[in-house]
Amino acid sequence: MPPVPVNRPSLPTLAPVDWPAGTDRPAAATAAAIATAAELLASGRLVAIPTETVYGLAANALDPDAVALIFRAKGRPASNPLIVHVADTAMARRLAADWPEAAERATAACWPGPLTVVVKKAPEVPDIVTAGGPTVALRCPAFHVTRRLIEQAGCPLAAPSANRSEAVSPTTAQHVLEGLGNRVGLILDAGPCEHGLESTVLDCTVVPPRILRPGPLSADQLAAAIGGEVAPAAQPVNSGPDDQAGEPGRVGQEAEAASRSPGQRRRHYAPRTPLEVVPMATATERVADRLAAGERIGWLCLSPADAAVRRLAASPALLVVPMPEEPAAYGRMLYASLHALDHRELDRLVVDAVPDGSAWAAIADRLSRAQCTAGR
Ligand code: TXA
Ligand code: MG
Repeated sequence: MPPVPVNRPSLPTLAPVDWPAGTDRPAAATAAAIATAAELLASGRLVAIPTETVYGLAANALDPDAVALIFRAKGRPASNPLIVHVADTAMARRLAADWPEAAERATAACWPGPLTVVVKKAPEVPDIVTAGGPTVALRCPAFHVTRRLIEQAGCPLAAPSANRSEAVSPTTAQHVLEGLGNRVGLILDAGPCEHGLESTVLDCTVVPPRILRPGPLSADQLAAAIGGEVAPAAQPVNSGPDDQAGEPGRVGQEAEAASRSPGQRRRHYAPRTPLEVVPMATATERVADRLAAGERIGWLCLSPADAAVRRLAASPALLVVPMPEEPAAYGRMLYASLHALDHRELDRLVVDAVPDGSAWAAIADRLSRAQCTAGR
């Protein structure tokens, strides 16, 4: 079958991968795209790949030079370690020096899926992947295209989200193109991601295991899967624009969590437009007030049918985005909504605060981090 041509150094090639789940083999064009991507990865190049959570920027995890390209393309600090994607548990165990009971139970119940486990790393995992640390984060994605790609490349894939550092993660190939442009040669386009939020990161080196980053699998779901206690993620605290993991003087749970999972710095996942999360009870008042001040507003709204919201929505300076009341559907839409609103030259994004509870924890976490836009 003909190889997929890869344009460089101009804009990346967007190769559609259309492989309905449950069918044995993909159509010829999709098989060719996966084969080209696998060859590029095996030869030390970067490829943007779809997963069920968000799009990733992938490189051979065992090739330090290839992994260095990821940090350069993203503008990511070398102190922030990468997740390594594996085709199955056997591949994961080869990359781990130790496979604790919690990792065994969590992966048996939740892999393939949106769960990343942190375990002690095996010597063959390059230091650049783990930012010099003794642990490695491992994930076996549910999306069958991603697993086929790993198998065909013949190596585990280091892949952070395919966005510039601190920006909103991509949930479509178009978002990758807009964010990374010609920093990547090939983007596999499988359409919108199923979850739309990054995987849950579970530290299995501590007892009980602890969530470092909330994600599509909630603490309650993981506790049920493991059959034991799971410590929830620390709440982000508002600590200002210069917030850095491990910064001296920072105290409390979040500083500790940030030093364990450096990507969990306070300021992250942020759109360019200033964003504020407002309790639902006062959101109408806040939006009316800002409109009166002459601002153009985008509003991620949980009660779009409300009479007061509809009255305000008549204003040409207000764009109301109705958000689902169900957390999985909300999560799927969140980043796509932020990407879209960022194109509208608005002065402010107002977001209705989401309900409390384990099922909303990942969304509340991302909104709280997106809110911290000071200094951008
Ligand atoms: O859903 C996902 O996890 C996506 C897709 C592409 O798989 N990937 C992703 O990667 O979100 P990234 O690099 O954007 O986020 C990785 C997170 C960061 O918070 C990082 O600090 C943490 O995982 N992490 C990576 N290695 C770690 C380690 N050894 N110990 C603790 N945290 C780690
Ligand atoms: Mg990321």
